[in-house]
Amino acid sequence: MDNLQKRFLGRDVISIRDFSREELDFLFETAGLVESRKADYAHSLEGAVLAPWFFEKSSRTNTSFQLAMHSLGGQCINFNVDTSSVGKGENLKDNARMLQGYNPDFAVIRHPKDGSARLFADLIDAPVINAGDGKNEHPTQAMLDLYSMRKAFGRIEGLKVAMAGDLKYGRTVHSLALALQKYCNCEALFISPESLRMPAHIRDELSSNSFNFSELGVEDLGKSLGEVDMIYMTRVQRERFPEGADGDELYRKVTSQYTLKKSMLEGAKLRNHFVIMHPQPKVDEIEPSVDETPFAYYYEQEKNGVPVRAALLHLIGGGKKK
Ligand code: NCD
Repeated sequence: MDNLQKRFLGRDVISIRDFSREELDFLFETAGLVESRKADYAHSLEGAVLAPWFFEKSSRTNTSFQLAMHSLGGQCINFNVDTSSVGKGENLKDNARMLQGYNPDFAVIRHPKDGSARLFADLIDAPVINAGDGKNEHPTQAMLDLYSMRKAFGRIEGLKVAMAGDLKYGRTVHSLALALQKYCNCEALFISPESLRMPAHIRDELSSNSFNFSELGVEDLGKSLGEVDMIYMTRVQRERFPEGADGDELYRKVTSQYTLKKSMLEGAKLRNHFVIMHPQPKVDEIEPSVDETPFAYYYEQEKNGVPVRAALLHLIGGGKKK
């Protein structure tokens, strides 16, 4: 086993910060192999069990982790927050202790509280994978986003990426921005309503690492299209707004403020190779007619969740390859 592979063994995946550029590239190469030589990995994690511990709604992340685990010959248990004891007021620590007692081989956690994945990782021996902790991070989404960029452009270095929408509460853009700074000469444009700007702590971190980014208002969405290789649209994270009147007011102000329209694409002088990504689910922020344009890459992007997560599980679990 080579050195890079060893670095993945038994590892938690809490923040994209924890992964070096070299490790990410190794993961993507493995994901490419998992995709092209599926049969070689079919028994990789035979007998291993993954616990998908989702306290929030999920379609793609949960399904793709489960499909990934099955594709490696492993199994998943079923945990449904609606029928579990969570609604009875059990605290997070007790829940984590219970999971530790049952001893799964992997725990994949999604929870509305920032920092919850770290808390689970501190209490559980098995590798814990953060599938989204509140508004904080979603590292495996960033992994599949980068993998999708590599597929679309053949590289990540030097790309200029616009991220648009709810950059304040959107955990996917936090992880993606932190990931992009690892690649040479990448640049970002952050486009958002004033009240939903990229958090200061992330901007500060990017600045201190000399990552090149600028910020624009949503009125500049159309204008920005010709300046970038990719635009990464995100939905308004309504469920993360403050509760009560403040949150309602904020939502009223920002909803429908930004929509990527087909006419904007037609009106822009786009770069030769331009794509639109979105972590999904999308709501109103992309006009449906855009789905049929050659720029819509989000359906390809979501497919990449399976090989990237399978590669990650294979490496972390020290899986066997034929
Ligand atoms: C995202 C999430 O949960 O943060 N979804 C996903 O995992 N693909 C984005 C979102 O919910 O808007």
